[in-house]
Amino acid sequence: MNVLLFGASGMIGQGVLRECLLDDRVESVVAVVRKPLGFTHPKLREVVHEDFTDFSSLAGEFKAVDACFFCLGISSARKSEEEYRRITYDYTLAAARALPSNPSLTFTYVSGEGTDSTESGRSMWARVKGRTENDLLAMPFHAYMFRPGYIQPLHGATSRTRAYRLLYVGVSWLYPLLRRVIPKHVTTTENLGRAMLAVAGAGGAGEHILYSPEINRLAAEGR
Ligand SMILES: NC(=O)c1ccc[n+]([C@@H]2O[C@H](COP(=O)([O-])OP(=O)(O)OC[C@H]3O[C@@H](n4cnc5c(N)ncnc54)[C@H](OP(=O)(O)O)[C@@H]3O)[C@@H](O)[C@H]2O)c1
Repeated sequence: MNVLLFGASGMIGQGVLRECLLDDRVESVVAVVRKPLGFTHPKLREVVHEDFTDFSSLAGEFKAVDACFFCLGISSARKSEEEYRRITYDYTLAAARALPSNPSLTFTYVSGEGTDSTESGRSMWARVKGRTENDLLAMPFHAYMFRPGYIQPLHGATSRTRAYRLLYVGVSWLYPLLRRVIPKHVTTTENLGRAMLAVAGAGGAGEHILYSPEINRLAAEGR
């Protein structure tokens, strides 16, 4: 499987990249990044790119892709709707539209628990993510929307967002308790990566919108 990865420098992307590099089914990972990741691996190739609304120059890189794992994204805190939509919707759809026409291709998108499929609720981030999901689901490939709640970073994965890094310092030690008290709302960076590989490796999963319980089940069954 040839994987195209967006957001490889982020908390979730780091976890997904780790699982891809460890997985025998993955032959190659092309990571589209703004800046080099700072390490090398025989399976990994980085493509440093500037304009995330236009991937036409990367058509050659996208040609042989079997699965695209889209983990790029930002928090909506202190962002205008326009700015949040540009990175959340425009970047994601630009990448999806630049992929080759291949009905067996798998596209996974990390949205979040609370995403608003109706696109009409009061929460700005949930509406924008909802529109992003809906337009991806209408595209001619196997699209899977990952809607995690709390994500425990594992194996050294760290958020690019300072506020989240501080939050995780405060909350991470509670993870064993969270798993017991709210198991339906908890997953890990490792499980996200494994579940994406399970979905892509099997050529699909039953549901196209996946919450933490399905993500954790796919991760456990997938290897
Ligand atoms: N963390 C959670 O608990 C959680 C829960 C549910 C859903 N999610 C969703 O998952 C996604 C990723 O979250 P995360 O926790 O991995 O975030 P993160 O650690 O902040 O990483 C964000 C990633 O997006 C990239 N990115 C941000 N702005 C960009 C821009 N303007 N141009 C190009 N790349 C840009 C970053 O690249 P640079 O390194 O170049 O900045 C980085 O790779 C987000 O959409 C988030 O809403 C997260």
